[in-house]
Amino acid sequence: MAARHEPVYWLGKDTLRVSAALFVENRRRLCQGLKAKEGVAPKSVVVLQGGEQKQRYCTDTDMLFRQESFFHWAFGVTESDCYGAIDVDTEKSILFVPKLPESYATWMGEIYPKEHFKTKYAVDEVQYTCDIADFLSKMKPEVLLTLRGVNTDSGSICREASFPGISQFKVNNTLLHPVIVECRLTKTDMELEVLRYTNRISSDAHKEIMKKVKPGLKEYEMESLFQHYCYTRGGMRHTSYTCICGSGNNSSVLHYGHAGAPNNKTINDGDMCLFDMGGEYYCYSSDITCSFPANGKFTPDQKAIYEAVLKSSRAVMAAIKPGVKWTEMHRLADRVHLEELLKIGILRGSVEDMMKVHMGSVFMPHGLGHLLGIDVHDVGGYPEGIERVNEPGLKSLRMGRLVQERMVLTVEPGIYFINHLLDQALANPSQSCFINNEVLARFRGFGGVRIEDDIAATAQGIELLTCVPRTVEEIEEFMDDSGKSF
Ligand code: GLY
Ligand code: MN
Ligand code: MN
Repeated sequence: MAARHEPVYWLGKDTLRVSAALFVENRRRLCQGLKAKEGVAPKSVVVLQGGEQKQRYCTDTDMLFRQESFFHWAFGVTESDCYGAIDVDTEKSILFVPKLPESYATWMGEIYPKEHFKTKYAVDEVQYTCDIADFLSKMKPEVLLTLRGVNTDSGSICREASFPGISQFKVNNTLLHPVIVECRLTKTDMELEVLRYTNRISSDAHKEIMKKVKPGLKEYEMESLFQHYCYTRGGMRHTSYTCICGSGNNSSVLHYGHAGAPNNKTINDGDMCLFDMGGEYYCYSSDITCSFPANGKFTPDQKAIYEAVLKSSRAVMAAIKPGVKWTEMHRLADRVHLEELLKIGILRGSVEDMMKVHMGSVFMPHGLGHLLGIDVHDVGGYPEGIERVNEPGLKSLRMGRLVQERMVLTVEPGIYFINHLLDQALANPSQSCFINNEVLARFRGFGGVRIEDDIAATAQGIELLTCVPRTVEEIEEFMDDSGKSF
């Protein structure tokens, strides 16, 4: 075990010190989960493979490495090309690191002895990856437990550990995945502390942008400012996902900012901005969206849409507690949006009837929120036995479970004016009867509003991790550069 005062990860200055104890506890939880699981034989040994260093296409240019998430959760190792093993009965942990060639010392730096990694990562033993088969066979395991399972957000299957000589072992690749996913679903105190930190730094970075934004700047300048703030002030080399910096109509493009639409519009006076960005520290994520007018002053229409979304966000937050169905939280947000769009005059008729034809999904086609942790869309949203609700809107919800204490979730309702969805609704008589097209026409090109906060579920309700100006008054006061508080 690492000395208590020696963090496994710390980038100096005011960055967070994280203890290797975080991963010792994760491994202990995993062993307990496996021991309680039917079918896990005595003398089972977990084998996880860490992420590999990759190069750009066929070149020798290294990509910036980011650890594989399950491996990070269990070992907290920042280096690439490692393996880890855990003896389930004894909870003994073994880290396998690459035996590096002498040339490494010339090109990459010091080659550390095994003892260095043992102390740093608080594992029981360190061996070289080239010796993994020999070492594991001396442990005489009954079975190796490897990780194979579907990521329910991407549909991709995680990469199962493999190494030369694995064929000599009995391997089970089904038992481990559901247990480790269940462990990652709820966060320990030490994990919550890291997630509070990623939220604090990312919230402050968003505030920095709200101070600096003005018409005439490019969207990518805001992305750059966010990244600079997170890295220089928070030691965050990575963001949790590609920054979304939509202004004007781009704020209705849910995942704007990708290579085909790279945050390259000039921000105009009168634009709504929707900036969805989160910094990542030691592989732990944050996911925050701030929506505000580029010039710092809401128009009446911008205020009305913004306050409709804020109302649903706060209604959901007030309702969250252990035991509530996440699908019901999504429906609650839809209902509040429809009530407010009715007041604004974009919709007419009965909200109850609108709910029956899924009018909410015309304006919020994505899910209300998702689990957050080492992955921004964290694992565990749909375990076996819980199916997605195949309805517009709800089918995009990334979690179908009941809320549990220690889950960390995003609450991210939004109202968007997406032309092709509006046109589809207008062409569908069961939906068009609720739309006042004259009023709606005024909102074409408006873009959208999303308010995204990260919360941790507690025994009584929630802990709000995100801290940015949220009401119209708070935002206007904060963005007013005639020199105010906050
Ligand atoms: N930033 C991606 C999301 O909000 O889920
Ligand atoms: Mn987001
Ligand atoms: Mn999100």
